[in-house]
Amino acid sequence: MTRARLDKKKTDMASMFDGVARRYDITNDAMTFGLARLWRREITKSVDPRPGDRILDLAAGTGVSSVPLQRAGAQVVAGDISEGMLDVGRQKHPEIEFVYADATDLPFDDDSFDAVTITYGLRNVQNPELALHEMLRVLKPGGRLVIAEFSTLESAPLHTVYSEYIMAALPAIARAVSSNPDAYVYLAESIREWPDQVTLAHLIRDAGFDQVKYRNLTGGIVAVHHALKPQAGAEAPAAPSAARSDSDGSRADAGDTGPRSGSDDAPARDSASDGDHDVEVRLAVEAADARPEPGA
Ligand SMILES: C[S@@+](CC[C@H](N)C(=O)[O-])C[C@H]1O[C@@H](n2cnc3c(N)ncnc32)[C@H](O)[C@@H]1O
Repeated sequence: MTRARLDKKKTDMASMFDGVARRYDITNDAMTFGLARLWRREITKSVDPRPGDRILDLAAGTGVSSVPLQRAGAQVVAGDISEGMLDVGRQKHPEIEFVYADATDLPFDDDSFDAVTITYGLRNVQNPELALHEMLRVLKPGGRLVIAEFSTLESAPLHTVYSEYIMAALPAIARAVSSNPDAYVYLAESIREWPDQVTLAHLIRDAGFDQVKYRNLTGGIVAVHHALKPQAGAEAPAAPSAARSDSDGSRADAGDTGPRSGSDDAPARDSASDGDHDVEVRLAVEAADARPEPGA
């Protein structure tokens, strides 16, 4: 089993981030050659924070993803499981409310947020399906979900080069700028294992969200998924079991639960370009569901 799977145990994850908390923001910028700031702007646009909104920024870490939401006039709750990250966040941004919050067991009431967002966080959660279910629960009907995560480059050859680049160069860069280079080896491995854009869209839809779409940033290095909680009265799917992630300390990879694009079973992608445009995955998913059984 790879390190990326083993280290997703909640306590290991929290202490890994405790170890990088002090230098997290600066390392982030260095590792992405400044692109993180541009991506952050686009992610904020997708969340569309409005004055008076109550927004949960999950896996908020030091609050770098929470600040632009709060500056737009929203009331932001920044949740995370790393006390080290939360401490740094509280010192740097006393205006934001930082709360210990496990994505798979959120300490919030049903229907209590206008938007829930998670940036570079879902990949680290042991049971992303359960986390999605929790996000659905705490969102108000009609509320917005925005997930930003490292993803799969649109160009297959480029994706190969990119993966190799990450694996080869990331630990070396991390050794120069980070006190915890192992955390960045984990980062590279977990990105390689994370499901692609369409597979994640399936997971989001299967959790009970509507109008799932995504947008690629920088050719798919980052994908921003956007979805809505159905209005009241819609039937909610059953919560996935938490036991799966706790029984053996590992989790079934999110990619195991749905077909990856490119596989024989994958739903057809929309024909729309997904360069820097939104791709309405909903249509592709529904079209795939409507396909007749072979021989029918
Ligand atoms: C890469 S940081 C992202 C920080 C910030 N959102 C950003 O945009 O830079 C990932 C964060 O996920 C948190 N995390 C990991 N597993 C979690 C879980 N189950 N629930 C909540 N946060 C979690 C880690 O503690 C860490 O602070």
